[in-house]
Amino acid sequence: MILLNEAKILENLPLPVNLHLAQTIDSTNRYLKALPASSSIEICCAEEQTQGRGRFGREWHSPFGENIYFSGRWHLNTDLSRLSSLSLLIGLAVLATLYKFKITQTILLKWPNDLIWEEKKLGGILVELIDQTSVVIGIGLNINSITQDKPWCSLYEITSKLFDRNLLITELIIQLDQHIQQFLQVGFEPFIATWQQFDSLYQKQITVSQPLQTISGVAQGINQMGQLILIDKQGVTHYLSSGETSLKELGFKKI
Ligand code: BTN
Repeated sequence: MILLNEAKILENLPLPVNLHLAQTIDSTNRYLKALPASSSIEICCAEEQTQGRGRFGREWHSPFGENIYFSGRWHLNTDLSRLSSLSLLIGLAVLATLYKFKITQTILLKWPNDLIWEEKKLGGILVELIDQTSVVIGIGLNINSITQDKPWCSLYEITSKLFDRNLLITELIIQLDQHIQQFLQVGFEPFIATWQQFDSLYQKQITVSQPLQTISGVAQGINQMGQLILIDKQGVTHYLSSGETSLKELGFKKI
């Protein structure tokens, strides 16, 4: 097992960051949210999390030394209403990182920002706002875990290779920063086509669960605000900003 190593992560990183590495931590997102405000990029990674959190307050399984538990805090001077598309952009930055490592198997995005392979979750993203100008971007990416018979997967399961997480983390920081800087300059629109290319839900019959309602329909991609476009069976178009998506069960059994 190759452990996280500060010198190795920083060695080929062309931008300044404050790196906080921990053996064990409750949650890397929580840690960065509690740091005093700064205009620097703050990065926190841990070998294990005892209270790793996902979307909707779910637990994020974070065993020691196997995967990436990453949080990055960026100070952005931008309007918060663009945050929903920012969260979609992060999925693209993670995919771009994997491509740099020649991992080109069909890893797709599930709106808003899950990474999936063969309908199993490879990674998840939790973007949290700190104040009007700062966000914490939390990324959990399954790397070297043995995941056969689990409802999630890892890069090891996909490629049969073990990865040095330090190298992946360096590239992840580079890609995140590049994507964020471009987003700040030109907005989300230039990214939409790439997002559609990796959209696992496109033209699928899905259900979106929200706290107060559940909507079913056919997914039609995303709009410029990063909202999911869904057409229900009455032909009404919905633009959804949040929710949990699942492929709709069909009313027959396979025989
Ligand atoms: C999800 O799919 O629900 C999002 C999962 C996000 C998990 C990561 S792991 C690093 C960071 N720290 C946390 O507590 N959560 C995020």
